[in-house]
Amino acid sequence: MSTINEQLLMLDPRIREASVTIPVYGQLPFVPERASGCDIFTKDGRRILDLYGGHAVVALGYGHPQLVKAITEQSNKLLFQSNAVALDIRAEAAEKLVGVAPDGLDRVFFVNSGAEANENALRMACMATGRKKVLAITEGFHGRTAAAAAVTWNSDRWYGFPTKPFEVDFIPRDDIAAAEEMIGTDIAAVIFEPVQGIAGAYDLSAEFIHALRAATQKHGALLIADEVQSGIGRCGHFFAVQAHQIQPDILTSAKALGGGIPCGAVMCSHTIAAKFGAGDLGSTFGGGPIAAAAISATIDAIENEDLLMNVRRSEIAIREQCVVGPIKRIQGMGLLLGLVCDRPAIEVRDALLDHDILTGTSNDPEVLRILAPLVLEPGHIDHLAGALKDIAPAID
Ligand SMILES: Cc1ncc(COP(=O)(O)O)c(C=O)c1O
Repeated sequence: MSTINEQLLMLDPRIREASVTIPVYGQLPFVPERASGCDIFTKDGRRILDLYGGHAVVALGYGHPQLVKAITEQSNKLLFQSNAVALDIRAEAAEKLVGVAPDGLDRVFFVNSGAEANENALRMACMATGRKKVLAITEGFHGRTAAAAAVTWNSDRWYGFPTKPFEVDFIPRDDIAAAEEMIGTDIAAVIFEPVQGIAGAYDLSAEFIHALRAATQKHGALLIADEVQSGIGRCGHFFAVQAHQIQPDILTSAKALGGGIPCGAVMCSHTIAAKFGAGDLGSTFGGGPIAAAAISATIDAIENEDLLMNVRRSEIAIREQCVVGPIKRIQGMGLLLGLVCDRPAIEVRDALLDHDILTGTSNDPEVLRILAPLVLEPGHIDHLAGALKDIAPAID
């Protein structure tokens, strides 16, 4: 006879999680057991092509040998030490990150997540400028902590804190005239996602992004590029702003930064960095050795395997092959793509899952999101195109 513990283990983890966690996540109807490359293998024997990458995290796919080796070796050598001591592996990660960042961003502050990166970026902007108002872009998402959520569009529905830490206003996206009117000498920072991920991989126009840069520069406000979702190669450049050849004052990164190991980073120029001293910023786990080893290995793999080129090739193939079945058009950049559907995107997501393909939805009910690993292969795109063709277009 099995013990109670053994009986519990045999239960579906969805039931076990539901009985001991706060039920804030809508979960998908399968249970992964292991994964390799772009494939997830489920407990009940399915092999699912993952075009969603755990919310844009799994940049190198699952089980990438160099990433696994780097974190395994680092765990054996030195699992953890805080920022109270300097570490070779932290220095190496910071040097590599600075090496691939937009020109002028030559200083890094390591944190653990996207929200924490944005929280610190916004604090830095208020401290550096001495100003109290921040502008963000309509439909944007920046995280769920106090400051990051304050600049997130429509966060009032779940914000939860009694007040916001600073005054916030939203520039209508792609409205250059509004941006030029709203950005003035009272503004500490403008925060934006070059490609708005959760909004449905909506790529802001190049003209709008350039107008944000020009107006912030003119009025002494800082421009913060939130590249938590769009960065680390996802848009076919290490960072999406590099496609527009603009230099933000501050850039935030997380998600794919460690290929699956939790980590985040804030980058800025040495001039901005010089405004901060001991005690102004801090994080216990930020820049820990396992995260640093993962960052270093992720950057190496993107460079050594020419993954930026693979992302660009994959984008072209998806755009050529996948405007079929329920897909009307495609927006976004690289492998941060929004497939605009002729019906609620959730219906297309569910139909694709029946074909063993995992995609994501977005805040735009018509947009299905592709956030595939950067190691995507042509055969995966054929599989997606074939499955989409099987889903009949809606009849008007
Ligand atoms: C653009 C952007 N910024 C910030 C965040 C928050 O990141 P995290 O969930 O790691 O706090 C997200 C998460 O989806 C994001 O897409």
